[in-house]
Amino acid sequence: MSVEAPDVDTASEPAGTDPPRCAIVRLRVHCFRNYAEATVRFGPGLNVIHGQNAQGKTNLLEAIATLALTRSPRTTSSGDLLLWSEDAALAEADVARPPADVTLSVRFQRDPTTNRVSRITAVDGKPRPARAVLGVCPVVLFWPEDLALVRGGPDGRRRFLDVILAQTDQQAVAHMSRYRRVLEQRNALLHQLRLGGGARDSLNSFTSELAHHGAWLGLARSRLVDALAPLAALSLHDLSGQRERIALRYAPVHVETIPDSVEAAEHALLETLRDRASEEIARGITLAGPHRDDIAFDLDGRAARGTASQGQQRSIVLACKLAEVRYLQDTAGVAPVILLDDVLSELDPERRRRLLALLAAGARHQVVVTTTEPLTEIADFEDVLHFTVRGGVVTQDER
Ligand SMILES: Nc1ncnc2c1ncn2[C@@H]1O[C@H](COP(=O)(O)OP(=O)(O)OP(=O)(O)O)[C@@H](O)[C@H]1O
Ligand SMILES: [Mg+2]
Repeated sequence: MSVEAPDVDTASEPAGTDPPRCAIVRLRVHCFRNYAEATVRFGPGLNVIHGQNAQGKTNLLEAIATLALTRSPRTTSSGDLLLWSEDAALAEADVARPPADVTLSVRFQRDPTTNRVSRITAVDGKPRPARAVLGVCPVVLFWPEDLALVRGGPDGRRRFLDVILAQTDQQAVAHMSRYRRVLEQRNALLHQLRLGGGARDSLNSFTSELAHHGAWLGLARSRLVDALAPLAALSLHDLSGQRERIALRYAPVHVETIPDSVEAAEHALLETLRDRASEEIARGITLAGPHRDDIAFDLDGRAARGTASQGQQRSIVLACKLAEVRYLQDTAGVAPVILLDDVLSELDPERRRRLLALLAAGARHQVVVTTTEPLTEIADFEDVLHFTVRGGVVTQDER
């Protein structure tokens, strides 16, 4: 979908219509990464967490993101989250949001016999499934890896979409987890078939199941990209003031575009998987489906990856992250918490100033930013709290 940048006056938020916002009031971490025990009381505006390298800045943002997303966005192995040589970790937060404030918690527990780490999510102290937690405290996490969104590999772009879907689309979340499971099983079978073992008949049932969940997921992602495209165009204009045209398109690996009905999308994926079955067996992996799809970014009609300058690519990334903020806000009905992990130092002063000004205006988000250097562009924020983290101990600075 391609959208022309609008005129300036339609690009800005209308004055005096602050949407309600979500804010972390208190965060407690216990045996989480390098924190033995810490409680941080955040302010509703900008929270600057200052510290040298390797003190626990990213770990603190990871704890907030893990609460909001019910799993760490940084590791697939929950055992990494437990303070070394401990058997349990906890992250807990009091969250202020309409219509009612809530306390979210996530506990990771290692079984001493199997060494497996289980996860228990809770709302107001009562164990609740992850789906009851997702979307309660929407967050947008922006860290240095995200700066490679345009030029990096497609897995980063798929993750960008899936983190948004996780917080906004319960149906997509259910299909996503079923898809992952059946993909794993199907790949294991393909691997066996490649080696001359396994039952060929079982492949058909895995293929049907994969095509079913894959169609739902692909369609959800494709619709999300269509919704993000105009928001990214607005954001690019707000950020750069330029009239560059940005276009985002979901780029499935097996068809030109995802058909706009689940049945047709399922049929298209099924056909491809059936056509490529011999090739899949020869290679021992699944060759089509959302796990291989991508997003295509065009700037002024050309593929941004190959033609946009580094600065333009960086602006597109920022525009996409701001589009994520706006989309979550519109869908969840509350302004999400923004977590900026050390990205400001990666931006030139003008982009840094514009990004912070946009976050301080409009919805007036709660922002938690980590930095190793003093921040100078924060004048637009009304409420600013400063913290220092040293060796897993957080203290609020007196200023
Ligand atoms: N499970 C764990 N138990 C104890 N310490 C851990 C665990 N996982 C990571 N750490 C340590 O936590 C420390 C702080 O990590 P973190 O990524 O938060 O640093 P940071 O302050 O963000 O540093 P930088 O400025 O370099 O990004 C690191 O030294 C890391 O080795
Ligand atoms: Mg860090």
